[in-house]
Amino acid sequence: MSKKVVVLSTSIRPNSNSDILADEFARGAKDSGNEVEKVSLVGKELNFCRGCLACQKTGKCIIQDDAIEIAEKVKNADVVVFATPVYYYAMSGQMKTLIDRMNCLFSADYKFREAYLIASAADTDKPALDGTIKEVEGWVACFPKVKLKDIIYGVGLEASGEAKNKSKLLKQTYNMGKTV
Ligand SMILES: Cc1cc2nc3c(=O)[nH]c(=O)nc-3n(C[C@H](O)[C@H](O)[C@H](O)COP(=O)(O)O)c2cc1C
Repeated sequence: MSKKVVVLSTSIRPNSNSDILADEFARGAKDSGNEVEKVSLVGKELNFCRGCLACQKTGKCIIQDDAIEIAEKVKNADVVVFATPVYYYAMSGQMKTLIDRMNCLFSADYKFREAYLIASAADTDKPALDGTIKEVEGWVACFPKVKLKDIIYGVGLEASGEAKNKSKLLKQTYNMGKTV
């Protein structure tokens, strides 16, 4: 059955490694007949959550910027894919800001049931992603109908564009997208 897949690519670095992997995942998911939309944070206006919790009453954030439309796309998707660089052994600040700004989803009749994480890090060992995974698990735990299905460990990626040379990783990411 065809699924609606939203890929949230949160690095704003040109030729970003996590974005390259996000594209591979999206390509795989498209090739197996899913409806895929990639949303990059490049050029987006994304302000910090103010913690007012108005969204829990109205279902909508009071801040008029690009987070509103992104949250709506996520709400109506079947699958959410987070792509992030690892910053200080955690998710990127921009991804955390986006997650906080999608707080309207917490009290919403959300459709998504599956989440994936794609993370890139300079460190060559998988535990470099532990903090980021824990953070995403924290988000997933707040949505009881959702499961973190799988993770792409994009380790050993430092300079921009390096992911393009990692054929095994690219293939693994494409295949993960394909089995969404
Ligand atoms: C502010 C900052 C913090 C970083 N912190 C880490 C880190 O804690 N561990 C690590 O392995 N790499 C760290 N890196 C390296 C990036 O995770 C790595 O270059 C990654 O491939 C960037 O992904 P991107 O190209 O998608 O932005 C950091 C990079 C920046 C800019």
